[in-house]
Amino acid sequence: MDGNGRWAKQRGRPRTAGHREGVKSVRAVVEESVRRGVETLTLFAFSSENWQRPRSEVNILMELFMSALRSEVRRLHKNEVRLRIIGARDAFPEKLQQRIAEAEALTANNRRLNLQVAANYGGRWDIVQATRRLIAEVQAGHLEPDAIDERIFAQHLSFPDLTEPDLFIRTGGEQRLSNFVLWQCAYAELYFTDALWPDFDEAAYGHALEEYSRRQRRFGRTGEQQAETLATVSSSYARG
Ligand code: FPP
Repeated sequence: MDGNGRWAKQRGRPRTAGHREGVKSVRAVVEESVRRGVETLTLFAFSSENWQRPRSEVNILMELFMSALRSEVRRLHKNEVRLRIIGARDAFPEKLQQRIAEAEALTANNRRLNLQVAANYGGRWDIVQATRRLIAEVQAGHLEPDAIDERIFAQHLSFPDLTEPDLFIRTGGEQRLSNFVLWQCAYAELYFTDALWPDFDEAAYGHALEEYSRRQRRFGRTGEQQAETLATVSSSYARG
């Protein structure tokens, strides 16, 4: 969700005004995901590196998370959205941690959309904490080092029950991953747009999804092999 600061600067307003406006785009994208039947939406709200921003901006962001949790959770629950926060949450103020836990408990059984908010998250942090868990299991004698493969490794990352992202969207014109879900994005389709996050509305999101639907995902195979697989899958669907 990049570009909040620039959006505000263009209007001669403080950066934090951009973050406040960004909450509206969060709402629009979540609701459009529900309408379009997206299974999982992950939003990168605060990276492990964002602590380095001016103290006043970090404080406003924490307040914004608190107030968004207060104002949005009931609406999310009504829309059958399950909310989860990924990242090292123990660094957040106690009150925020408590509110996160309550929101997660309230929405735990919802199945329409999995909404993950990455907060104090870093892709490398996720890989390091998975490695630590694996080492602990090996040391306890529950796991043989040779048994560790990609599947087992992935099971030790944050929220292993969730599928890998199909589409990665970055707003704000930069073309990089910036330590987002690095392991899980191995085969994600990348989509970059110059739109600043507060300007990223339902139509802009729809455009990204339409572009994604035109991509051919090959997973290391040839285009012909992939087309053959798709034809087999769709003919078996057609046969019921
Ligand atoms: C990046 O833009 C944005 C952030 C670091 C914060 C994102 C937070 C929100 C949209 C607010 C609320 C979120 C939730 C989930 C309730 P930037 O500040 O780096 O923009 P710039 O590149 O233009 O400076």
